[in-house]
Amino acid sequence: MLPHIIETQQFDKELLTKVFDTATHLESTRDDSLHGKILASLFFEPSTRTRFSFESAMYRLGGHVITAENANEFSSASKGETLEDTIRVMSTYADVIILRHPEIGSAERAAAVSSVPVINAGDGAGQHPTQALLDIYTIKRELGRLDDIHVAIVGDVRFYRAARSLAYLLGKYEKVHLSLVSAPELRMSEEMKTYLDKHGVTYEETDTLDGVMKTADVIYQTRVQKERLTPEVYAQTNGKYVITRERADSMKEGGIIIHPLPRVGEISAEVDDSPHAVYFRQVRYGLMVRMALLHLLFA
Ligand code: CP
Repeated sequence: MLPHIIETQQFDKELLTKVFDTATHLESTRDDSLHGKILASLFFEPSTRTRFSFESAMYRLGGHVITAENANEFSSASKGETLEDTIRVMSTYADVIILRHPEIGSAERAAAVSSVPVINAGDGAGQHPTQALLDIYTIKRELGRLDDIHVAIVGDVRFYRAARSLAYLLGKYEKVHLSLVSAPELRMSEEMKTYLDKHGVTYEETDTLDGVMKTADVIYQTRVQKERLTPEVYAQTNGKYVITRERADSMKEGGIIIHPLPRVGEISAEVDDSPHAVYFRQVRYGLMVRMALLHLLFA
């Protein structure tokens, strides 16, 4: 059984392989293995993919869902209830809690008081571990390997929680090279660079996209997040790195473009039918990975 899922550092290669194998095994499955189990999704920030994919995953495995999609407004948090009290109560009602919250560290706080597993579905600019698991599963499925890869993280390399979670995971594989493409304001933190150095991941920082489009195996595009930046930094950085069809066509054969989504213009719609565009298949891999996580949680 998996414990709480708070950050990607808690996954070793053996567990990653188990998650990937289970996800592949569960592809297109609908069964009753989680019959009688209840998932509570508690979202204090908006979501399309994470909430609906976890809920769909639970239904596909025969379980049940209780949900608060705008928990700030429609739970007793609006009356001033603390996150800790909300979690104590919800863990009485559910067998697993999926939590998205705007504060870094909120999932860890929830886990500390919960009597059932808590899955971090994004804690502010902290981490988004299940997104990173589906991102790395996407790379494995599409490239056929996780060692000896060149990944370019583009856009917001600093505050994008899924990118941070992915970088921690890439540190577990061999001969990984990162190109970090961003404006100076959105460069990777020193803490992350120290981690990459310690784990043998080589990297370079650049503010130019065109070169890496031609050489990378994976282009990991991100959204510049209006909700996490000052208006000044957002205005300076948004729209700087748009993947156009011309840029997509410059990629080497077999290279892939992934994006956790939502996108808001940083990948042009004309790229969608490019052989390099994988971001909508990635959504399906996400459903499979979240089914695998729920399955392993109750195994
Ligand atoms: N990638 C992701 O977390 O999407 P949502 O915000 O729609 O859940």
